[in-house]
Amino acid sequence: MSNTAQIILEGKTYEMPVFEGTEGEKAIDIGKLRDQSSYITLDSGYKNTGATKSAITFLDGELGILSYRGYPIEQLAEKSTFLEVAYLLIFGELPTTEQFATFKTNITRRTLVNEDMRKIFDGFPVNAHPMGVLGALSSALAVFYPSQIDPNKDKAETELHIVRLLAKLPTIAAWAYKNSQGHPLNYPKNKLGYCENFLNMMFAMPTEEYDIDPDIVDALDKLLILHADHEQNCSTSTVRLAGSSQVSLYSAISAGISSLWGPLHGGANQEVIEMLEEIIADGGNVEKYVAKAKDKNDSFRLMGFGHRVYKNFDPRAKIIKVSCDKVLKKLGINDPALEVAKKLEEAALTDPYFIERKLYPNVDFYSGIIYRALGIPTNMFTVMFALGRLPGWIAQWKEMREENQPIGRPRQIYTGYTKRDYKDIGTR
Ligand code: SDX
Repeated sequence: MSNTAQIILEGKTYEMPVFEGTEGEKAIDIGKLRDQSSYITLDSGYKNTGATKSAITFLDGELGILSYRGYPIEQLAEKSTFLEVAYLLIFGELPTTEQFATFKTNITRRTLVNEDMRKIFDGFPVNAHPMGVLGALSSALAVFYPSQIDPNKDKAETELHIVRLLAKLPTIAAWAYKNSQGHPLNYPKNKLGYCENFLNMMFAMPTEEYDIDPDIVDALDKLLILHADHEQNCSTSTVRLAGSSQVSLYSAISAGISSLWGPLHGGANQEVIEMLEEIIADGGNVEKYVAKAKDKNDSFRLMGFGHRVYKNFDPRAKIIKVSCDKVLKKLGINDPALEVAKKLEEAALTDPYFIERKLYPNVDFYSGIIYRALGIPTNMFTVMFALGRLPGWIAQWKEMREENQPIGRPRQIYTGYTKRDYKDIGTR
């Protein structure tokens, strides 16, 4: 294979180097295109544009493959734990027993949030969406822990901020929920594991202890693993772009949280449940909603379906679907939403509209059904996505900064008015 691409513009031939990744993906490096030809490329939504090389996560959308640092998602979801996967994504290798123990202890010991942050909670209206609270308070962490760090020089300080984020975000998330319920806030307990601690902060009441169910803990841990990273998705690209200005890690993560909230991205898991409830309330007429999703004049979309990269099954959706059945059976829950979701999937996957467009269930299609079975309220679903994606955002930010990547600043093609003279109407 030639390791250059030729671009012929106005009769002149420009040679651009071709780059091939470890999984055989190929790219034309257009880094010098504008200098040589004055042309740039255009690619709305970056559907064909690679923003970076990365060694963290690989996914093959055609084959439905996803791996973190080379380990298949199926193996990690089955055998690993969320904190071990977080370590793998952030530091590049699975931890030794000793490294893991230190990592886990450091996180456990930093789960408390500065008491002054509680005053910020009091400023929110009681019906504040927890994603808005999470984004605001994660940004506030940049004020409580000012940091102008270079991960190549300030390794220990960088790791401290990473541990602080992994430790404090679950506390902030649980507090956002308790605040929205008008319940007293629960504090983290060092004797509890990562997921146990979060569930206890979410559901313990002064009037009664929260009984930690190991099945619920396992299901939550697996869901967090499945959400942990996903190459250059919208929110990760936001973290990288924001982080490329060398703003603090907390601020870059806060930008990612805001981006994830969108209904086309992480906000879809809440939209899926609301869609399933609408279909149930409307008599469970699945065919009607499949028809609406296909109707160009109808803004309705089958939430949880389709993906920018996966043109086959999202491997995470497959794992979550199996887990759905197991968790609901173990907990003795019969959720009509699961049956409607399965009927919807069946109807869509045999419909030419979805087949032609290669629209399959994505990670958000079944996850809300499990979250609901675990007792997580609907408006916390995207917060759960953010807690899962946190190590991936951190890993991607760290890779970008460690490689001293330049500040991200895309070009554009101007299509507005050409030069015209100002007409003074005496507004001064
Ligand atoms: C996540 O990028 C990631 O990796 C994201 C994520 C991660 O882990 O970070 O995987 C998490 O965000 C999952 C996606 C969650 N969003 C949803 O479930 C929302 C519903 N899905 C879509 O809106 C859509 O599929 C996107 C946003 C996911 C992808 O949009 P694209 O790649 O821009 O595709 P498109 O909107 O151009 O759609 C292509 C065609 C269009 O039809 P035509 O114009 O060609 O006739 O497919 C149609 C769309 O109308 N289409 C749908 C559809 N999704 C796409 N039609 C009905 N229902 C849908 N869900």
